[in-house]
Formats: sequence, structure tokens, C-alpha cells
Amino acid sequence: RQPVGRDGLAAYIRDVPDYPQPGVLFKDITPLLADAAAFAATVDALAELAGDVDAVVGIEARGFMLAAPVAFRAGAGFVPVRKAGKLPAPTLSAAYALEYGEAVLELREGTLAPGARVLVVDDVLATGGTLAATVGLLERSGAQVVGIAVLLEIAALGGRQALPGRSISALLQA
Ligand code: PRP
Repeated sequence: RQPVGRDGLAAYIRDVPDYPQPGVLFKDITPLLADAAAFAATVDALAELAGDVDAVVGIEARGFMLAAPVAFRAGAGFVPVRKAGKLPAPTLSAAYALEYGEAVLELREGTLAPGARVLVVDDVLATGGTLAATVGLLERSGAQVVGIAVLLEIAALGGRQALPGRSISALLQA
């Protein structure tokens, strides 16, 4: 099969207007995940950004699909940040506003050693609420967030402003 370059990845992300509610332009990454070459190129490119980290953190649910293979590729552990009620206690929780709606994210306390170096991976950076909540949880747990890497940044939604001073890499800009 033909390799897919980073710039070619955009062709595998489908825009779905008015989903899951009117006025929202949903970025559907399932065509990218379903294509072996595009998926491999994405995981390889994100793993290159990992550097020397102890763990790659993924955010439920779409973040898991990228963060777990990136962790494997980078030779790091994988740590899930989950929606509320999915992890056994003790957990740390953070409420946050989504582009559409509100939610709570949780991290299992004690999963990461104090000072652990982590890269956070997600599919999309939109308003930044999800990643800001995740970074907060990780730092409250004593981990060191050394970077954030996403497949796609929707720059117009200003997500970087919710993450001041953070090292953020995006493979694609929308
Ligand atoms: C989406 C996406 C990011 C987040 C980005 O997840 O996967 O995690 O929204 O939005 P933000 O930058 O405005 O916070 P969603 O909460 O829809 O959940 P899912 O991954 O379970 O579909």
C-alpha cells in the first residue's frame, strides 16, 4: 500500500455539519482510523512527538484510539482519562465545558508515579476544555505534562488560549 504523508491525512477526516447538534461541524476521524496507511502515518507522527516520556495519556473515547497505539509505538505506558463513573476509586475528577454540553473527566489516583513525564494525546483540540481539564487532573496527581499532541486543531475555536504555556503540537489545522 502507498504511504500517506502528514499533509495527506486531512483527506481522511470527514466534516459532518450540524452533528451532534445544529451549528456544530463534527470532525469524523473514522475514515482515517479505518485506512491502514493513514492510521499508521498518524500514529507514527504522534509517536515521534513523544520524546522521552513514561506514559502517554489518552482521553475517552476518541483519544484512546490514538493514544494507546502511540504509547505502544513510543515504548511508553498508556494511561486512560475517563468520563465520570468508569474508574474505581480513588479517582481525581474535573468538570469541564465541552464545545457541546458539559462533562466530568476522571483519572485513577496512583496510576502515575510522582513526577512521571507524560504526553497527552487526543484526536481534536477544539475549545481546549477537555485538554485543560486533563492537564489539571494530571498535575493534581503529581505527574509532569511535558507535551500535548493532537491529530487536528480547530484553530478558530481558540483552544490554545485554554492551555497557556503548554507545548502543543497538531498534525493538522482545520
Ligand atoms: C471530543 C474530542 C476531544 C474534545 C475536543 O470528545 O474527542 O476530546 O471533544 O473538544 P474541546 O477542545 O472543545 O474540549 P467528546 O467529548 O465529544 O467525546 P468522545 O471522544 O467520547 O466522542
